[in-house]
Amino acid sequence: MTDILELSATATPAEILRAGLAAAGGPVKLACSFSVEDVVLVDLIAELGLPIGTFALDTGRLNEETYEVAEALADRYRLAIDWYFPRHEAVEALERERGPFSFRRSLAERHHCCQIRKVEPLGRALHGLAGWVTGMRREQSVTRSGLRAIEIDTVNGGIVKINPLLAWDEAQVWAYAESRRLPVNRLHRQGYRSIGCAPCTRPVAPGEHPRAGRWWWEAAEHKECGLHRRR
Ligand code: ADX
Ligand code: SF4
Repeated sequence: MTDILELSATATPAEILRAGLAAAGGPVKLACSFSVEDVVLVDLIAELGLPIGTFALDTGRLNEETYEVAEALADRYRLAIDWYFPRHEAVEALERERGPFSFRRSLAERHHCCQIRKVEPLGRALHGLAGWVTGMRREQSVTRSGLRAIEIDTVNGGIVKINPLLAWDEAQVWAYAESRRLPVNRLHRQGYRSIGCAPCTRPVAPGEHPRAGRWWWEAAEHKECGLHRRR
């Protein structure tokens, strides 16, 4: 991926969103996992009145609490969420041949599950878009430290990828969410700091890395599901 715009290092999320929309020059959607970052972005996009839709990937393994956030956002913002599901034949074969917890066996098996449940549906969600917005932040992991505000997503057909919160730390995200009384996932109160699929996410202890609860049996450099691959 390449940085396509010289944005100042102090550009605000609103400036990044506006510049990203202009750079895309066509339809743009937010990829919403209902994390606190994504809820902040839903609020910001609504406040700014930007023409950015929302899609979500339902892997079939999400927590009930995550659907509650989706419902709360739909109510509060009259948000239309474009849901994408995995291909049922692929999930049926996965479960039949490898069982419901194949992802714990090896990195390859985990990637296979993420490919079927997240990456393939992402490809369909991005079809026809000129750009997409994510809630990724640099401090989240070693794999995200090189993140740019606006990138060309060469893995997904060269569309624009917009990361408005890249420079925010966790405290800034929570300060925004609390100041706006945003509906956040109840799991956060139970020690979850990053939330993905239910069987691959657990709460973290104080002092542990925020993403330590994601695929906790894997090394930090592997903690990506394939949604954010780079060339
Ligand atoms: S992951 O690669 O480890 O799963 P993470 O949970 O940090 O990603 O989320 C980073 C960003 O990816 C989110 O802010 C969101 O934009 C997008 N994303 C992740 N999971 C989903 C999902 N299920 N549906 C839509 N977007 C998602
Ligand atoms: Fe499968 Fe876990 Fe990846 Fe979800 S996070 S798609 S359950 S391996």
